[in-house]
Amino acid sequence: MATKIWHVLELLEWTTGYFEKHHIPNPRLDAEVLLGHLLQKSRLQLYLHFDMPVFQDDLTVFRELIKKRIARTPISYLTNRKEFMSLDFYVDERVLIPRPETEFIVETILKTKGGTPQRLLEIGTGSGVIAIAIAINMPEYEIIATDISKDALGVAEKNRDAHDCTERITFLQGDLFEPIKPLDSSRFNWIVSNPPYIMSEERDNLSPDVREHEPTVALFAGQDGLSIIRRMIAEAPNYLHPEGKLIFEIGDKQAASVKALIEEQPAYQNYWFIKDYAGKDRVVLATVE
Ligand SMILES: C[S@@+](CC[C@H](N)C(=O)[O-])C[C@H]1O[C@@H](n2cnc3c(N)ncnc32)[C@H](O)[C@@H]1O
Repeated sequence: MATKIWHVLELLEWTTGYFEKHHIPNPRLDAEVLLGHLLQKSRLQLYLHFDMPVFQDDLTVFRELIKKRIARTPISYLTNRKEFMSLDFYVDERVLIPRPETEFIVETILKTKGGTPQRLLEIGTGSGVIAIAIAINMPEYEIIATDISKDALGVAEKNRDAHDCTERITFLQGDLFEPIKPLDSSRFNWIVSNPPYIMSEERDNLSPDVREHEPTVALFAGQDGLSIIRRMIAEAPNYLHPEGKLIFEIGDKQAASVKALIEEQPAYQNYWFIKDYAGKDRVVLATVE
């Protein structure tokens, strides 16, 4: 019996229906992104080639992608790419998928002109997006970025090298400030972080895409979600130059607790919250004397 020849449009329609049946959010969009990834075509190009046949080898790979999406593997892990600050990054299950709200951190640093040279430390770099976006936009910055996860640093290095920042960013592995303690000069103008900040008890409320696929170490920070932030606020002044700045992302309900933690530390001279697109306090910028 002749094997059925599938065409782009009917494959998209079939996949959309299958995703709907399995309660995948954004079924049509996911079907288009996955098929576009497989055929190396943009979504627009797919629309222009609705009647293009999809051959057996591609169908076999597509079937595997569909199975993984049904198992709630996030699209970015299936395509191995995510855009951040209009730059293209490689991602896989070793790192958190960068979120759009994290761009506020980078935009704030880019807007706050400092004298040069500027030394910047990123804590918990994950895929390296923050450090790399800053390195590309601020070529005069000297950047050190750390992560406790050796696996994550493997991804960060791949992205750093792909963006030609190899000479400009040093990655170090370890817990918070531990890796920089042995350095000759361990004072910075900026300390920046998007730390883990989810409460451990919120685990069950997360979508399965996040809960079952993104690295636990990138998400959770103890019972109150503040175990990393608390230590960072307490220790950062020891590593900042006079008038240095600590900037980091927080959860949308953490502003009051974070305000109290900053006020406990006399080293901070001033602090501000920056709101996200939903009007929630999302980024904290604190300066030392
Ligand atoms: C929320 S992710 C942020 C990743 C990336 N900066 C971004 O914004 O997409 C937090 C990162 O912090 C790292 N991390 C968790 N605990 C840490 C610790 N105690 N010291 C250093 N890094 C840590 C995780 O491995 C993870 O890569």
